Amino acid sequence: LDNGLLKTPPMGWMAWERFRCDINCIDDPKNCISESLFRDMADRLVEDGWKELGYEYVIIDDCWMSRLRDEQGRLQPESFRFPGGIPKLARYIHDRGLKLGIYADMGNYTCMGYPGTTLDNIEIDAQTFASWGVDYLKFDGCNSNPVEQMLGYPLMSKALNATGRPMVYSCSWPVYQGGLPPNVNYTLLGDICHLWRNYDDIQDSWDSLQSIIDWFSNNQDDLQPIAGPGRWNDPDMLIIGNFGLSLDQARSQMAIWAIMASPLIMSNDLRNLDNSARAILQNKVAIGINQDPLGIQGRRLLKEKSQIEVYWRPLVGSTSALVFLSRRTDMPYRYHTSLAKLNYDAGNYRAYDVFGGSLVKGLNATTELTLSINPSGVVMWYVYQETQYKEETET
Ligand code: DGJ
Repeated sequence: LDNGLLKTPPMGWMAWERFRCDINCIDDPKNCISESLFRDMADRLVEDGWKELGYEYVIIDDCWMSRLRDEQGRLQPESFRFPGGIPKLARYIHDRGLKLGIYADMGNYTCMGYPGTTLDNIEIDAQTFASWGVDYLKFDGCNSNPVEQMLGYPLMSKALNATGRPMVYSCSWPVYQGGLPPNVNYTLLGDICHLWRNYDDIQDSWDSLQSIIDWFSNNQDDLQPIAGPGRWNDPDMLIIGNFGLSLDQARSQMAIWAIMASPLIMSNDLRNLDNSARAILQNKVAIGINQDPLGIQGRRLLKEKSQIEVYWRPLVGSTSALVFLSRRTDMPYRYHTSLAKLNYDAGNYRAYDVFGGSLVKGLNATTELTLSINPSGVVMWYVYQETQYKEETET
């Protein structure tokens, strides 16, 4: 959606994958879905260096609502868990230079059974969110039929626009239509939404992450061309820092999300994050690749019999990024290639190894390369011509 928002993919934090629908604030006060959880995360984003790297959205997911709308038909938060109400939480977040996201569902009920946004509630809900100071809406699609979705998703886009408050609009619609054309009309989505979930929810495992990477790359001919500034595919949250990924697998998620111009929305516990997860999520070069101003989604170039996959993304100023991903389960694999084999023009290049932190100099397009790629890990390169950015790399 071309209204000036999300020129680059959104960055921030979202509750769902890590905190789910934990509403038991008596037993689990630190982790339940409540205003204090979102305040805690906002504090961490500001104090632990995330905000200055671009992580700015704090996004509430399902299970924030009261079971009932108020007397005027407006959604309201569950008062025991959000005693200050959403406007106060929004103020807290805005005071820290961050932005607030909220969740609603096009349908009779949210996925977890809270009040849905039916067609006749769309306007009032958009107005309510705007009046609260919300900056981002995730609009889920449980408990609705295709006709309601066809009417509801465009209507919400209009209703948000009519409030006059700039709000990012994230649509889960494609998930409920099977994710692919001709069922999904991605041209329409690009006109009405800033980003959209295409596929299954991510779970805290390498299996889940691999199935998402497979689905997006197997369908890249349909999905890659539609992405760009103001219109992004969303393969779901970053699960780095949780329980299911090894160090190498966590790097793999960061690398592929950077290449695919995916939203960098973490769902983890920023209060308890080990240093390796922090270093991956705060890697400035990986973030820079993700946030490249051209906004061209990358592609899988090769899927080798050796279970090595090569991904490529063109970046501003004739620079580019490469990711070599191993699906192997044995030992570091020695992969032989050259930039020429990966479609690079003749010339002299340099490559910065994004997670290794070293610079590979004196590369010619035809130079034979041997890369050692860990099982379920990546080597990620930022590639530029030798004549470019001399000073930056010399120092
Ligand atoms: C389905 C969505 O895809 C998830 O991201 C999450 O929002 C849940 N619904 C919440 O019920």
